[in-house]
Amino acid sequence: MIYNRDRVSANRLLIPDGCWPLEADVITLDRSPIHVHTLKVFCLRIYGLGDLHADFAANRELIESLSGQDYMADTLLVAGDVAHRPELIRAILVGLRRRFAHVFFVPGNHDLWVAGAATEEVTETSLDRLDEIWAICEVEGIQRERTCLGALEIVPLLSWYEPGLDGGSMAGGVDDTDEVMRRLGRRWADRRYCRWPSHLATDPSRCQFFEQINETILDGSSTKPLLTFSHFCPRTDLLPDVKYLRFGHLPRVAGSPRLDRQIRSAGSRLHLYGHTHIPQNMVIEGVRYVNAPLGYPRERERWGREGIRLRLLVDDADNISAETIAAAKLTDDRSNRASRRTTRI
Ligand SMILES: [Fe+2]
Ligand SMILES: [Fe+2]
Repeated sequence: MIYNRDRVSANRLLIPDGCWPLEADVITLDRSPIHVHTLKVFCLRIYGLGDLHADFAANRELIESLSGQDYMADTLLVAGDVAHRPELIRAILVGLRRRFAHVFFVPGNHDLWVAGAATEEVTETSLDRLDEIWAICEVEGIQRERTCLGALEIVPLLSWYEPGLDGGSMAGGVDDTDEVMRRLGRRWADRRYCRWPSHLATDPSRCQFFEQINETILDGSSTKPLLTFSHFCPRTDLLPDVKYLRFGHLPRVAGSPRLDRQIRSAGSRLHLYGHTHIPQNMVIEGVRYVNAPLGYPRERERWGREGIRLRLLVDDADNISAETIAAAKLTDDRSNRASRRTTRI
């Protein structure tokens, strides 16, 4: 088959599922002799996206608007909060899997909402929901385990949030009392829609539980650079100052410092996270932290952002090292605009 070199586009070549050549001989017809070039046709590109919130019809439309051809050789990391209902989580992940060669997923708090949790009849817990999601991943070919990809290893990390993210006190001098937490509990939807077994009755106990699961994932050495991702935020300094937050209690429910300890002790140089709905791209002490939310429709309006933006985290996972992964130029905007007045993150 003869291709015009200049017109070859890897993304427009339809390749059977599971068959991704890294290199191809490409023949061009110049004026005189036929030249044979070897081009690297398929780079292992890795994209990130979080907080899909497909419960919104507008978000479903955006997700469904993603090209069915352009990402067929690529990988997408989905950093949680896909939808509240398992059947919708399945539909969205399956749709993404049709578009991407690989889809990795970690659940967020919204994915663990148990329908009707406020009623006595419901016995399903958020841990049961987690098992249900894992079963969906298993059946639908969604990656949820530590996996080698090119020169990298992709490591999904579970987590929750706890007050310890900001050292146990609210940034900006907001009162740190039980009363504050009680008031927060009334506003915070997870308190109503998540349901936990008795041994996971508190936020720190959930963080510890997921931390221990992560330890088993991170156990063992790797010679490859790691790219980690989670739903929850690993550091308080990834958040804007509390005076810029519409929801001043966000640091309370944004993430856990345990995550950052694990990210760093594992040697990760790039960490994708979600949950805060605040786009982020920042290098702190040698680790690049990226948040690439789709977010709520009203948030995109505030950001002046239309459409769906996938953040390109790695443009060639075959040719990347621990030294270069955090320094890689990311092709998306580097905005760090804070979301305003939202408590459902
Ligand atoms: Fe979230
Ligand atoms: Fe979210």
